[in-house]
Amino acid sequence: MVSRNDKQAVTVVKEVAMQVPLLDLKAQYATIKDEILAAVSEVLESQRCIGGPKVVELEEKVAALSGCKYAVGVSSGTDAILNSLMSLRIGAGDEVITTPFTFFATVGCIARVGATPVFVDIEPRTFNIDAKLIESVVTEKTKAIMPVHLFGQMADMDPIMEIANKHKLAVIEDAAQSISSTYKGRKAGSVGTAGCFSFFPSKNLGGIGDGGMVVTNDQQLCEQLIIMRDHGSKTKYYHKYVGANFRLDPIQAAALLVKLPYLDGWSEARRRNAAYYDGKFAGTVVQAPYVRDDCKTIYNQYVVRVPRRDEAVAHLRNNNIGCEIYYPVPAHLQECFEYLGYVRGDFPETERAAEEVLALPIYPELTDEMKDFVAEKLISFLG
Ligand SMILES: Cc1ncc(COP(=O)(O)O)c(C=O)c1O
Repeated sequence: MVSRNDKQAVTVVKEVAMQVPLLDLKAQYATIKDEILAAVSEVLESQRCIGGPKVVELEEKVAALSGCKYAVGVSSGTDAILNSLMSLRIGAGDEVITTPFTFFATVGCIARVGATPVFVDIEPRTFNIDAKLIESVVTEKTKAIMPVHLFGQMADMDPIMEIANKHKLAVIEDAAQSISSTYKGRKAGSVGTAGCFSFFPSKNLGGIGDGGMVVTNDQQLCEQLIIMRDHGSKTKYYHKYVGANFRLDPIQAAALLVKLPYLDGWSEARRRNAAYYDGKFAGTVVQAPYVRDDCKTIYNQYVVRVPRRDEAVAHLRNNNIGCEIYYPVPAHLQECFEYLGYVRGDFPETERAAEEVLALPIYPELTDEMKDFVAEKLISFLG
C-alpha cells in the first residue's frame, strides 16, 4: 500500500526532476546518429573537404524544397545575407529598409557592406515588418527591402513586392528562421529577389556547425553569388571582384542531407506542440503567437507575450525550464548603431515587443508532460 505521504513525495520528486530545456539537440541526434556518422564518414573517406557532390546535392534539394531554380550554399546565414547584398552590389551610399526587431545579423550585414539600414516598425501581431510603413521611407538612395520572416512565419510579402516593383528595389528575404514556411502557398525565399537561410544548429534544419544558403530564381544573381563566395573569382587566381570565402563545408552539407527528409515532420511536430500550448493559454494572460490564415509557420520559435516578463523568465528558469528573449534590445537601440540617430520611442511596437516577448520550448521531441509543466508553471506564476 502506498500511503498519502509517499504519493506526495513521489509527486515532489517527479516535479523536481522535470527539466525542460529550450532546445534538446541530443534528443534529435539520438534518432539519426547512425545516419549522420555514416554521412560524415563518407565525406572524410572521399577527402572532398571543400565543395563537392554533397554541397551540390544539398543545393539542388533546397532549391526544389523552396520552389526556386537556384541555390548557393554558403558558410552561414549571416554570409547568405552578406553575399546577397554584395552580389546585388549594394554598398556605400545605398539604403536598405528593414525591421529593427530581428537578430543582429540582418542589420549587421547591411552596415558591413557600407549601406545604411533604414528601419520601420513591426506589425504587433506577427512581429514582422509592417508593410504599410515601408513606402514612406523609400528615397532615391533605397536599393533594397529586407523583410525578416521572424520565428518561422513569413512577412506580408504581397505589399512588400508591390512597393519593390514600383520603386525597382531588390527584396532580400531573411528567411534564416523560416525554411519551407509558406505565405499564400509560396515558400520562404521564393518570393523576393533572393532568400537567405541559416543552418545554425537551433534552426528547424540545423547543421552540426555553421552553414547557410541563398535561393533565387535569377540566374545572373546565382552566378554572381557563386563568384562572390569564392573571393570574387570565376577563374582561379583572377579576381574581377572583391568577394570572400563564403563556402559551405561539405561535412555540414552531408549532415543536412541526412536531416532534410525529416524537416517537414519536425516542423509538423512543432505545430502540434504549438496547438497544445495554444489550448493551455487560451483565456489566460499569456498571449499565444498569432498565425495569419494565409501563412504556414514552422515555429522555429514559439513566442508569447506576457506581463511581468522578466520575473516570468526568472521563475521559469528557477523551475528548470529553458526560455529566452528574442530580442531584448531592438537594432535601432544597439550601441553600434547609435550613429544612425534613432532614439527610444521611434518604433513603439518593436520596443513594446522587446519588453513582452518570451520564447518557450517548442522542439519536436517535447512530451505532453513537459508542455503541461511549462504551461502550468507560467500560468500559475502570472495568475
Ligand atoms: C533572423 C536571422 N537572420 C540571420 C541569422 C544569421 O544566421 P547564422 O547564425 O547562420 O549566421 C539568424 C540566425 O541566427 C537569424 O535568426
